[in-house]
Amino acid sequence: MSSQPDLAARWRHFQATNEHRRAVRDFDGAPLDDADVRAVLEAALLAPSSGNLQPYQLHWLRDEAVRRRVAEACNGQRAARSASTLVVIAASRRIGLRTAASWRAHLDQPNGLDARSTAWHLGEARKFSRFLRIAPLCLWTPPRMLLSAFAPVYSLLPVGTSGLRHWAARSGVYAAQTLMLAASARGLDSCPMEGFDAGRVARALDLPRGTVIPIVIALGRRRPDARLEPRWRRPRADAIVEH
Ligand SMILES: Cc1cc2nc3c(=O)[nH]c(=O)nc-3n(C[C@H](O)[C@H](O)[C@H](O)COP(=O)(O)O)c2cc1C
Repeated sequence: MSSQPDLAARWRHFQATNEHRRAVRDFDGAPLDDADVRAVLEAALLAPSSGNLQPYQLHWLRDEAVRRRVAEACNGQRAARSASTLVVIAASRRIGLRTAASWRAHLDQPNGLDARSTAWHLGEARKFSRFLRIAPLCLWTPPRMLLSAFAPVYSLLPVGTSGLRHWAARSGVYAAQTLMLAASARGLDSCPMEGFDAGRVARALDLPRGTVIPIVIALGRRRPDARLEPRWRRPRADAIVEH
């Protein structure tokens, strides 16, 4: 690592934030400051996304009745029931298309970018809008299915209806992880949950058809007596493969 002093501090902060983040299942349930939750949600928006299309929305469940309905749809999990609030990540191609349109609209107005940056952004926005228009065509489905049957490595190709759902969900998950690290840095705790009834959650939030929910995040502060087992990770030599 470089000997720059600010780099050493940044690494220390990152390590502390990363280590502090645990999947917490017992929250104290106390209300959170709106400013804290907003800061964490906004930090999540800096997550990388495919083509910068940010094909997700972060649903912050502020309404008590909605929060309770979604908590119940999370199979009554402890984390969901005890959390101060919940964030549902909803993702779809439709949201990606909306991003592309607003990206282009932003570039059509005075925006402080120089000509070179404007040209670069326009090129990206056009390229990825084209991708989003072509990728769902049903003609992609048979070759995608054939390819992935014989070579499963292709099964995550971002084409066809289901390929695009995976595509949108993937970017949503980066936002989720960024959100949880941001929460940790802000003194909040989180628990990612995939144990939920997606249909019930979608109905509670009135999500349009075609939306997928890769993850629901419980947010709050861990109870002083919350039990956290020591972490276990498999041996590095198995997880990190060098070529
Ligand atoms: C995709 C995903 C789904 C998860 N779903 C649940 C869940 O439904 N309920 C739960 O209590 N924890 C859930 N977890 C949390 C994991 O159990 C937890 O991250 C793992 O045991 C490692 O513990 P740590 O996060 O404290 O290091 C999920 C984590 C991920 C990444």
